Amino acid sequence: MKGIVLSGGSGTRLYPITKSFTKQLLPIYDKPMIYYPLSVLLLSGIRDILIITTPDDIHLYQKLLGDGSQLGVSFSYLIQEKPRGIAQAFIVGEDFIGDDNVCLVLGDNIFHGSSLVDRLKEAASKKKGATIFGYPVNNPMEFGVVSFDQNGKALEITEKPACPKSNYAVPGLYFYDNRVVDIAKNISPSARGEYEITSVNNEYLRMGELDVITFGRGMAWLDTGTPKGMLKAAEYVETVQERQGYYIACLEEIAWRSGYISTDHLFELGSQLSKTDYGQYILSLINHNDRG
Ligand code: TTP
Repeated sequence: MKGIVLSGGSGTRLYPITKSFTKQLLPIYDKPMIYYPLSVLLLSGIRDILIITTPDDIHLYQKLLGDGSQLGVSFSYLIQEKPRGIAQAFIVGEDFIGDDNVCLVLGDNIFHGSSLVDRLKEAASKKKGATIFGYPVNNPMEFGVVSFDQNGKALEITEKPACPKSNYAVPGLYFYDNRVVDIAKNISPSARGEYEITSVNNEYLRMGELDVITFGRGMAWLDTGTPKGMLKAAEYVETVQERQGYYIACLEEIAWRSGYISTDHLFELGSQLSKTDYGQYILSLINHNDRG
């Protein structure tokens, strides 16, 4: 399975911060925002990852993340010229996807919780159809909303409904089989002129091939699209890391625990960052020798 992080967009809700700079490289506490969605792909067992971003920002991502070899994975990069919708990721990424299935995660989505890895592995192991998620929120009208029948089967997905039929928002994390490329090519733009991911999901629903996994109370899906959302997300990350001593979205740790890099290499990566708590955390993993 291939992975895509969609990391373009215009970030207008964060202006003036994002007027000259891409949103997904802004910090969420101690690491760039994109580390969080990247960690989700790595935790799903995906090693071949495409980052799609804007013409102005692509070099910044390349500078930060390189070709991925330092983590034992592969990062490649492509441009979305204009933010014309999330479903365009599959058109921009068509050659990268090739004949594989694909997982798409949005570059500003943060997930954390004890059941996350099991849910990810479940979705990634499915060969056919699509898997999306449902997450209960207070403000469903701001999202794609999925409603269910009394047996818990998905009925419909509506983009930013004025009168939502459920409080389950669809987070920016989607698993598809290879047909998604053709489906994305055949959808029409919405009234706001965007190629909506909701149209893709509704097509899988129409074919009877959409699974919706609901996340329960123990999961965090955090909003980072506004200054307040960023602050709250940063506080969440700081609180969990400080309290537990386990870091959220430490890519070096995930690569090491997954067996993609050696302990010697992890030591090198930690040493390069040794002035920071992040680097010290990496080094402490070796001292505790708890590869797990
Ligand atoms: P949005 O939050 O819908 O848009 P945005 O990030 O541009 O922000 P704002 O509403 O403040 O203007 O996008 C969600 C994510 O998807 C975000 O990471 C940007 C990304 N995205 C693209 O890369 N290309 C697109 O065409 C769209 C619509 C979004």
